[in-house]
Amino acid sequence: MLEDIKKQILNLKKEKDVLILAHSYQAPEILEVADEVGDSFALSIAAAKHPHKTVVLCGVKFMAETVKILSPEKTVILPTENATCPMAEQINPQEIIAFKKKNPIFKVVAYVNTTAELKAVCDVCVTSSSAIRIMEKIKEPVLFVPDKNLGAYIKSKLPGKDIILMNGCCPVHDSVNEEDVKAAIEAHPGFKLAMHPELPAKVLEYADYIGSTSGIIEYADSVSDNIIIGTEKSIADHLSIKYPERQFPLLAKTLMCPDMRITTLMDVYKAVLGTGGLNIEIDEETRLNAKVSIDAMIELGSK
Ligand code: 13P
Ligand code: SF4
Repeated sequence: MLEDIKKQILNLKKEKDVLILAHSYQAPEILEVADEVGDSFALSIAAAKHPHKTVVLCGVKFMAETVKILSPEKTVILPTENATCPMAEQINPQEIIAFKKKNPIFKVVAYVNTTAELKAVCDVCVTSSSAIRIMEKIKEPVLFVPDKNLGAYIKSKLPGKDIILMNGCCPVHDSVNEEDVKAAIEAHPGFKLAMHPELPAKVLEYADYIGSTSGIIEYADSVSDNIIIGTEKSIADHLSIKYPERQFPLLAKTLMCPDMRITTLMDVYKAVLGTGGLNIEIDEETRLNAKVSIDAMIELGSK
């Protein structure tokens, strides 16, 4: 059944000139039909390189919006309408407008996990894999929104830099605490710990490696150890399939993102067929303003 749908998707995407992009958190059967798989930075720049008229983005809404902002001529479909990221909605653009009026010398840097409307009032975007590279190039004081945990991690790597944080966070990663880490280390002595910077600072203190979703996979590729995985469970599952002889226990059982898990292969099939999903639309003024901060991210963040 699954194999049948996969075959049909592969045929349909050729026939209908569809590019499938998938975030590394998606289910294995979705990754198998994707043209490119990656973290949010890789997905931001992927679509523009391809000539396809339609992009099906398997992930969450802000990722599909980023593709649309950069490639407005393409039809961009999110297979499941309600696959959003709760962190993306945490800050109201009006708060940023008011802050900028009072603090004109500040640059406002937005984590890419934000709405197009929020990006439109910020100066630069970052992703987890590009944040340090970008932030070290910004000379002005920075208001970083919305993730207090990623923000605290950036501050720890760039001491002396003037960075103000807001109180947003990813509810999935922020649910992990120091007790979870101690319990995981006790249950798996000798295992390495790889973590996403959306985890709280107290938890990150125990990490052997800190990086984006793709970064964690590359870290696992580069060592032969068993690794406790401190990000969404899907990464542990992908690594267990790739390296069946190794162990990848999850740092805490709360590391499951409902929004990233909601998309099924059937949803992808319907999106490619043209009978399902959300067609991303952004008004032109918002798109152009949001593009400024994404262009700055790509310029400052490309290696
Ligand atoms: P990456 O930038 O590592 O892909 O992270 C996106 C995300 O939503 C992590 O929870
Ligand atoms: Fe958003 Fe957190 Fe889910 Fe990533 S894991 S998509 S940051 S809610």
